[in-house]
Amino acid sequence: MSRRDNHLTIEMPSRPENVGVARVSLAAFASQLDFTLAELEELKVAVSEAVTNCVLHAYPGRTGEVKVEAWISEGELGVRVTDWGVGIEDVEQARQAAYTSSQDPDHLGLGFTFMENFMDRVEVWSQPGAGTVVTMTKRPRAAALQAANGEERRA
Ligand SMILES: Nc1ncnc2c1ncn2[C@@H]1O[C@H](COP(=O)(O)OP(=O)(O)OP(=O)(O)O)[C@@H](O)[C@H]1O
Ligand SMILES: [Mg+2]
Repeated sequence: MSRRDNHLTIEMPSRPENVGVARVSLAAFASQLDFTLAELEELKVAVSEAVTNCVLHAYPGRTGEVKVEAWISEGELGVRVTDWGVGIEDVEQARQAAYTSSQDPDHLGLGFTFMENFMDRVEVWSQPGAGTVVTMTKRPRAAALQAANGEERRA
């Protein structure tokens, strides 16, 4: 495991009001890095989508535990959202844009698509009956560009 310069863990019940708690906490934690306001908004959407999925899908008809971890390592933010709920049968299908298992027309099946568009990397581990772990990373664009320019100069 890479060295973690700072880290945060939030454990909370899968209640809808906790989505905002996770979003605001993660934005405050992430603001230690050189993210633009637009990038922080993207991060907030991605975290909200991951936690909302725990609230809506992981524990049908009941409340369960959700863990949100964040860390900063070598200028990059990592976020992991874990639940111990029903899990996902077919992760590849679930990640497809517009796929939803919900009958509710408000759910467009775009949660994973937002996460993928707004974060640099998104990994999903899930096992039916065991739960789901979504791990995402994001690096401030300015820092990524600087690194790329540095690479070019050296090349
Ligand atoms: N934590 C989870 N536990 C169980 N199933 C999940 C979990 N996260 C996602 N899923 C499954 O993956 C599907 C796709 O998730 P996604 O967030 O992309 O869309 P959605 O939640 O259905 O709709 P939207 O996010 O647009 O409101 C969900 O419909 C659900 O079946
Ligand atoms: Mg969703």
